[in-house]
Amino acid sequence: MKTEQLIQHAIDATKDCHVPYSKFKVGAAILMKDGTIVKGANIENSSYGLSMCAERTALYHAHLKGFRKNDMVSMAVIGPTSGPISPCGACRQVMHELMDGKTPIFLSNLKKEIKETNPESLLPYAFSSKDLK
Ligand code: THU
Repeated sequence: MKTEQLIQHAIDATKDCHVPYSKFKVGAAILMKDGTIVKGANIENSSYGLSMCAERTALYHAHLKGFRKNDMVSMAVIGPTSGPISPCGACRQVMHELMDGKTPIFLSNLKKEIKETNPESLLPYAFSSKDLK
């Protein structure tokens, strides 16, 4: 699948955003090796701190569908930002947990400007299961 198509899936995912507070719609889409696309959208709460980002809803959605890091080909994330969106720190930590460090992540915006990165580059020196030993 072309990167632009995956980005379009991330844009389509914003139809399920629940953003009555920020009105800031973020969408994510993960392409799996079997061709499945798993989407995510940000879901806010009147108790603001409980809001959940698009990247994490996508990764948890994928996990619950039975997909694991080795099933993932790439991820796209879009937001209404002037340049490619920058995932928050909490999402970077969850990417590190549930994705392979080298899996391509395409950060984009509604103009479809693209920055390619991966979990390793987004969160160097991450806390991980190794630190619990
Ligand atoms: N948000 C995301 O969903 N992903 C990001 O990468 C940045 C921020 C959400 C959280 C909140 O619902 C809204 O965007 C504004 O911060």
